[in-house]
Amino acid sequence: MADSKANTLSYEELRKFDGKGPTGKIYVALCGKIYDVTEKGQQFYGEGAPYQAFAGRDASRGLATMEMKVKDTKDDLSDLTEIQKQSMLSWAKTFEEKYDLVGFLVE
Ligand code: HEM
Repeated sequence: MADSKANTLSYEELRKFDGKGPTGKIYVALCGKIYDVTEKGQQFYGEGAPYQAFAGRDASRGLATMEMKVKDTKDDLSDLTEIQKQSMLSWAKTFEEKYDLVGFLVE
């Protein structure tokens, strides 16, 4: 993060980072954290890539259920099963290791 104050984005603000905005940046949110996937994730989330639907979005539900599902408002995830939560947390670990954290998703 550029400054010490935590950077927060709303769902609406996050949408601007789908790779097609003025910055060209691609952000993906997972478990409340926002990651910059622009460079290392171009082949996954870039234009025409298989998981482009997650660009500028909260991928938590999609990676819990392994479906290309996204919501544009706060998703409380309380309906997820234990197995789905485990899947989501396992992806979160991958993201944490692979991508740069740029901020946090807020309502
Ligand atoms: C036939 C089904 C699928 C196949 C064969 C497949 C295969 C793959 C492969 C080969 C990779 C690259 C792994 C790597 O190089 O690190 C990948 C990455 C990925 N897959 Fe799938 N996948 C499938 C379905 C799905 C579904 C249904 C989802 C989620 C809804 C999903 C989400 C992802 C994500 C998010 C990544 C990129 C992770 C990252 O950012 O590093 N995949 N997949």
